[in-house]
Amino acid sequence: MLNKNNPQFLFEDIYSNFSPKHMLEENSKSSKDFKYDFRNSYPAPDLLPVSNVLKSLEKELKIVGVSKNLYPDPQGYLPFRELISATLKTKRKMNISPDNILLTDGSGQGIHLVVEALVNPGDAVIVDDFVYGGTLWSLRRFHSNIYGVPSDQYGMLPEKLTETIENIISKKQICKLMYLIPTFQNPKGTTMDIQRRQEILSIAQKYEIPIIEDDGVANMRFEGEHLPSIQSFDDSGISMFVGSYSKMVIPGFRLGYIVAPDNILKMIKIIKGSRGINKLSAFGVYRFAIDFLKDHLETLNLQLKSRRNTILDTLKSNFEDNTLAKWSTPAGGLYIWLQVNPEINLKEIRDKLNEFEVSYDLGTDFSADGSEKNSYARLCFSGNSNQEIKTGISILSNAIKTNK
Ligand SMILES: Cc1ncc(COP(=O)(O)O)c(C=O)c1O
Repeated sequence: MLNKNNPQFLFEDIYSNFSPKHMLEENSKSSKDFKYDFRNSYPAPDLLPVSNVLKSLEKELKIVGVSKNLYPDPQGYLPFRELISATLKTKRKMNISPDNILLTDGSGQGIHLVVEALVNPGDAVIVDDFVYGGTLWSLRRFHSNIYGVPSDQYGMLPEKLTETIENIISKKQICKLMYLIPTFQNPKGTTMDIQRRQEILSIAQKYEIPIIEDDGVANMRFEGEHLPSIQSFDDSGISMFVGSYSKMVIPGFRLGYIVAPDNILKMIKIIKGSRGINKLSAFGVYRFAIDFLKDHLETLNLQLKSRRNTILDTLKSNFEDNTLAKWSTPAGGLYIWLQVNPEINLKEIRDKLNEFEVSYDLGTDFSADGSEKNSYARLCFSGNSNQEIKTGISILSNAIKTNK
């Protein structure tokens, strides 16, 4: 039985102080499936390469030999870390030793571990004004003060970032971390250009604030060239990086990784405890990455591009000559960011549209300060067929236009 007086960890404490409360309620509802579901930020089942991953697992097991000790290396399967190191060099211009890579249970675990390692209750953490809800949960769990910085189409605004840091300093809080999603930001879909990456890095360096950069869906690019990571410009060692094979292979395999300097990696490994991540996942995804990933990404990205085009075309045809709504046009990733006139409440509309099998996530779910942002929504285009997108987005557009 749990000792209620245990000062180390009081689950009730964390969640009774959890703010905002409505996020707990929202999340508990999200298990229901809808036909036109724009919440799912991962590829639909028809885009998952299940049989090739299973073939890959079988092949790797044959190569390595099942007689070998299958307990994982605490840092993760070395050949996979070597492959990640080589891939980061080509795609993100990063020079990373496999020794500075730790395989994690999805990139979400990497983010959570960094927060746990660095952030004490009351410390300040900087994020975009709208940001991935999983990271907000980790930050709230460790009672950090979260500061959201506004952005434009290239991501976080440098002058607003400096203003925010000065504000944190004036409040005598310690700024422990900055969390960024430079490519196809979740939820906004924006991408930082090279100049913005360098500007943000130099501000972080000036104030000595560690950065964790989330590369989540950056390989799901269907237009333009891959960009160097922020970490690739960092000669001061303040940058960390998380990547994931979840959405580009199969989320259930939970294959992510973190790149961090020695001192941080050492802390993270201690905090993580246990052995490494599931070795069979690592075998399957590693061999898949060698044998199939290039072709798979080509097919997947073509499909995603077609679905993105369908959602954009459907919105455009519904809101022509109409100033009610605007939206982002990402060059990759899984979602677009919809903004409607402030008097339109997308929460009320969503509650009514659930009856018509339409759902989506609200701006509120991503809002850094936890305030209600019901004139924004994230629309994932990856989880539905083109026809479902057309139908679902038309239902939503009509509801917005009639505001009912
Ligand atoms: C921006 C971002 N980071 C991290 C994650 C966590 O992904 P995973 O743990 O499956 O790698 C997600 C999942 O939705 C995400 O959107």
